[in-house]
Amino acid sequence: MIDIKKLLHDVEKTKEMLPTINIDCSLVLGSGMSSVIANLPTELILDYKDIPGLGSANVAGHAGRLVIAKWNSLNIAIFQGRRHWYEGAGWNPIIFPIILSKTLGAKTILQTNAAGGIRQDLMPGTFMIIDDHINMMSANPLQGPHHPELGSRFPDQTEVYTKSIRNILDQAGKTCGIELPHGIYLATSGPTYETPTEVKVFRAMGADAVGMSTIPESIIANSLDMQLGAISCITNSAAGISEEKLSHKEVLETTENTKVKMKSLLDEFFKLLATT
Ligand code: HPA
Repeated sequence: MIDIKKLLHDVEKTKEMLPTINIDCSLVLGSGMSSVIANLPTELILDYKDIPGLGSANVAGHAGRLVIAKWNSLNIAIFQGRRHWYEGAGWNPIIFPIILSKTLGAKTILQTNAAGGIRQDLMPGTFMIIDDHINMMSANPLQGPHHPELGSRFPDQTEVYTKSIRNILDQAGKTCGIELPHGIYLATSGPTYETPTEVKVFRAMGADAVGMSTIPESIIANSLDMQLGAISCITNSAAGISEEKLSHKEVLETTENTKVKMKSLLDEFFKLLATT
């Protein structure tokens, strides 16, 4: 369950460590994508271990740093790596980036993640715009006592991934010549990858890609009325779709190979976001 008192206290403590600028947008970077922000003019870099409430990201490929930077005239809070439900540290560190972002004034959140491709056309290296999600984590961060600070008791989820942000991503993809199929993201709790039978069931349910993250943060951002976009980098074919066994090494290799493409997409996205 969320420890709301601790969460809000940690957010306030962290705010004191940050420059007093209004953040326009936050970017949460998934596995292996931390390095896409190389060469940005940074205001401040904080290690997660020094941020109360975040703690060390223990997953290879997650740098574990909060970077405040200027990106095409926007002030962006960049979370290089996320915490996961399977780490067993509870919801606080997972949703902390969203609550901090909201407190710093961010109206928009963009998330990236690594995912296994279920739909035929979603080959490794493809970026997929998330249109909607299926929560198969057997858990929801809003379970437990209702905290009005986190929105209503029963948040509507008709449009978790904001249409106008998805349109900006479409536009950014077109300008950069990057094909961006849309799809439905399904998350399990992990840390095991799926069995081939699970993948078949998920396909029948309407899932196009599968991962172990993103949905909790999306639930909170939606509940807080924030604009939200999310991109899955398809790093591998999901279990049983190809003969290959799955490994985190392969996930990191694919994200490494797509980082130039991700950087140009994000460049264009923030350019367009600044004009809206
Ligand atoms: N399944 C779950 N999570 C993942 C996968 C996958 O195939 N690839 C990258 N993250």
